[in-house]
Amino acid sequence: MDWKGWQRRWDRQQERYLPYREQSLEALVRCVEAVVCGQGRVLDLACGCGSVTACLLNRVPKLQVVGVDIDPVLLRIARGAFAGDARVRWIDRDLRDPRWAADLEPASFDAVVTATALHWLGESVLSRVYCDVAGLLRPGGVLVNADHMPLRSEVLSGAGSRLYAERFEAAADREDWDGWWEAISRKAGLADALEERERRFGRRRTHEFMPRSRGMYSISPVQAPLRRSFGGPLMKRSSPQ
Ligand SMILES: C[S@@+](CC[C@H](N)C(=O)[O-])C[C@H]1O[C@@H](n2cnc3c(N)ncnc32)[C@H](O)[C@@H]1O
Repeated sequence: MDWKGWQRRWDRQQERYLPYREQSLEALVRCVEAVVCGQGRVLDLACGCGSVTACLLNRVPKLQVVGVDIDPVLLRIARGAFAGDARVRWIDRDLRDPRWAADLEPASFDAVVTATALHWLGESVLSRVYCDVAGLLRPGGVLVNADHMPLRSEVLSGAGSRLYAERFEAAADREDWDGWWEAISRKAGLADALEERERRFGRRRTHEFMPRSRGMYSISPVQAPLRRSFGGPLMKRSSPQ
């Protein structure tokens, strides 16, 4: 199975919905580069098939990365794409489970990164995950979240939406989410992971079993736990909606 090929195909599919994904991930990588000084430990939250980890390791080859996700198929692709690479470890966890980080050493990560995922968590879960992350970061470590974020200014959000619509239109001929899943579900060698995925989520698409959080769109309720949790800098990179 061409795992790296499936990872690349995932990236192209994601770029259809996130026209600025590459730039967003570039900003994320730069933030991590700035804090790790060539080596360190990074946690990739909701890592999918490992695309963010791949970007990080391309630029900072001495990193050690732990990837966490709930999707058995995406994790299988990540494991395949990085087979034999001792720098990475993939763990199957649901961030909604309060014990998801129980076996991760406190204060042991220089950076926690995540892309296009946390908006799927409800507000109370998101607040708790931020607190968990704060406990996992070493003093001075950073959380870098490349996700949809609210823009308070109507002028800016209007301009962002128009720009997004133009870019989205330009990428409309790319494979979409359903097409990608249909293609991967025809691949031999993934039957057990696909079966487990169906057992966990049914035939619903991810955004149907993870109702979109309103938390990211009215972020103020999570600010207090964030401030309490993080003594150091908190960096966020927003993607246009
Ligand atoms: C749009 S994908 C992004 C994947 C990856 N970060 C990337 O940018 O390619 C969102 C990811 O969040 C994961 N996810 C959603 N809810 C989760 C949860 N409760 N626990 C762990 N992972 C979750 C999904 O399985 C999926 O891999």
